[in-house]
Amino acid sequence: MELSLVETPTPVVELDIVEANLRRMQDYCDRAGIALRPHIKTHKIPALAHRQIELGARGITCQKLGEAEVMADAGIDDILISYPLVGVGKALRLAGLAQRATMRVSLDNRVALETVAEAGRIAGREIGVLVEFDSGNGRTGVTSIDEVLELARAAREMAGVRFDGLMNYPVNARTGEILRDLLPKMESEGLKPGIISGGGTPNAFRTHEMAPITELRVGTYIYNDRMTVAAGHASWDDCAYAVHVTVISRPRPDLAIIDAGSKVFSSDAMPPGTGDGHGYFPAYAGAKLVKMSEEHGMVDVSACGGEAPKVGERLRVIPNHVCPVSNLFDRLIFTKGGAFQTFMPIAARGRSQ
Ligand SMILES: Cc1ncc(COP(=O)(O)O)c(C=O)c1O
Repeated sequence: MELSLVETPTPVVELDIVEANLRRMQDYCDRAGIALRPHIKTHKIPALAHRQIELGARGITCQKLGEAEVMADAGIDDILISYPLVGVGKALRLAGLAQRATMRVSLDNRVALETVAEAGRIAGREIGVLVEFDSGNGRTGVTSIDEVLELARAAREMAGVRFDGLMNYPVNARTGEILRDLLPKMESEGLKPGIISGGGTPNAFRTHEMAPITELRVGTYIYNDRMTVAAGHASWDDCAYAVHVTVISRPRPDLAIIDAGSKVFSSDAMPPGTGDGHGYFPAYAGAKLVKMSEEHGMVDVSACGGEAPKVGERLRVIPNHVCPVSNLFDRLIFTKGGAFQTFMPIAARGRSQ
């Protein structure tokens, strides 16, 4: 199959870059003495999870039970769900997973702890619990040391669960401060965390400087995107994932319309001062994807001068944030050395439950 004959819009993933990105992160973790537990929310593809494990990853991380079910079906047997699970339905599904894989779950409240404990009791197998603390993200995670201690004590005493450690996202300087305060208190109660799980690609290579993390959950590093380039984690050459699109109209000299809008790209904006629009065009650095309707992308090409793309031209677009874009397609194309290899289903896409 000729890549230029494949219809657009389509995501294309270059496997040589994937392999280099995976090896670089595994090497970093090996040197830093940190276990790697990649987050599959970025790729959602069992074959890539297996490659991460072959290269040395301890297991994988999933955000949702549905992702974990796809990965367990594909034979992956060591899974952390870095998301609080609440309710009977979740307990039943987690119990099913715990019967065929080693499962851990992070949580920040008593109701979620009871859900996991119920799953462990149904499965007849203890499920590991990581207590999540917040280091300024303002999302999940308890916000005081007393709450960490309370939940850890409750997990130690409750049947069906085992207190395995702590979880934080994203790792930052505050993570280190909190742990310096928290760890001696935990140890004095016999609650030493066996695992301290931290995550986030932008600061990944500085993890060892910031906090005593024992397991690293990184997702975006496998592909990289405009945000990880802006954060200084990667260069454009390290971006493995691009959406191939076609220019379908040039209604004005300053405007190109591409065949990809909000069904293809996410609305994630770049951090202030790091670029406008919804993606980066490597062949036209001045082009800006300024507006989207469902099927149309409006590209401001006024900064491209006489070099602006023409109708029929195929363009590569590196998304601002690759994870939500990856979730929008049923399949993508793998290339190697730029040549078509195969179509690959994105098996765990759309698993919002
Ligand atoms: C809880 C959690 N851990 C890890 C990650 C991975 O972060 P990144 O994709 O920056 O590596 C994410 C990303 O959203 C996350 O939400």
